[in-house]
Amino acid sequence: QQDERESLYLVSEFANSYFQKILHKTDQGKAIGLSYFKERGFTEDTIKKFDLGYSLDEWQAFTDEALKQGYKLEFLEKTGLTIVKEDKRFDRFKGRVMFPIKSMSGRVLGFGGRILINDKKAAKYVNSPESDIYHKSKVLYGIYHAKQSIAKEDNCYLVEGYTDVIQFHQTGIKNVVSSSGTALTPEQIRLINRLTKNITVLFDGDAAGMRASLRGIDLILEQGMNVKVCTFPEGEDPDSFAKQNTLEELSVYLIENAKDFIQFKASVLYEESKNDPIKKAETIRDIVNSISKIPDRIKKEIYIQECSKIMDISEEVLFSTLAQINKKDF
Ligand code: CTP
Ligand code: MN
Ligand code: MN
Ligand code: MN
Ligand code: MN
Repeated sequence: QQDERESLYLVSEFANSYFQKILHKTDQGKAIGLSYFKERGFTEDTIKKFDLGYSLDEWQAFTDEALKQGYKLEFLEKTGLTIVKEDKRFDRFKGRVMFPIKSMSGRVLGFGGRILINDKKAAKYVNSPESDIYHKSKVLYGIYHAKQSIAKEDNCYLVEGYTDVIQFHQTGIKNVVSSSGTALTPEQIRLINRLTKNITVLFDGDAAGMRASLRGIDLILEQGMNVKVCTFPEGEDPDSFAKQNTLEELSVYLIENAKDFIQFKASVLYEESKNDPIKKAETIRDIVNSISKIPDRIKKEIYIQECSKIMDISEEVLFSTLAQINKKDF
């Protein structure tokens, strides 16, 4: 079992160096992959730092090379790098730019591969399937490059995508990780919890990003962590926003727009319908429900006070609502 996992790590490590070599050393890699990354505004240093790569637009170029180098088809298939169908073999990431996904200690666990031209017929990103070394619910893209800064800054920015992490680094913000499009999981939050108690959620400025932020809040609070949310203008994501701004501008934006979860919920759930009493009641219940997830009694009380002020409702009512929610839970 341990040996098998080691074999999966080795073949993934090989694939990581292979895709980088293809990107930097072949005509197709340079003309297609490297120019794609440069058009996105990534510098040579950034591309190297994140081990970005390219998988040739051929059916089994990678698989053939891996077999030639002595890697077993069994492990190529188990990592999902090769798709085996009857007696045919296909490179999973054919013609895509490659983002290796690393563990906290820097081992390659899997990959995300992006299509070069947006095309409705093909998925924008293809990712490694679950394997004995890659469990997508337990991984955070960028954690290896972020861990020191997260501890030092005592805060972690949480973004949706690979390119958001990379563009933030290039702009100069390193305490950033991505849930890679999957709904945030308790295991992912636990990884951050080892490094800091503070998370700032920075999801995309669209309806999906908004929903994902709302869903993530309770999971973070449940682990006794503090959560803020900073939204971006409609249509922007952390990557596109960072690209248009200097480090100074980005830092100021993040500080000025990060709201604690109560202000965030109050603003998105209620602000638009200020005079609707039913909507106001729902928002208050929703906020109290989030507060009920906080393990610490003192923090709970402080947040009840804050909710009382923001929503203009008595603390007594909020405390009794909290008590009702707690009773229902047990
Ligand atoms: N994702 C995925 N499969 C898809 C779409 C998205 O796995 N078909 C994941 C990727 O990890 C992606 C993240 O969800 O980085 C966020 O998705 P999205 O915001 O659509 O992509 P971006 O990261 O903004 O990528 P890009 O800027 O390259 O379009
Ligand atoms: Mn490496
Ligand atoms: Mn998105
Ligand atoms: Mn995005
Ligand atoms: Mn994007």
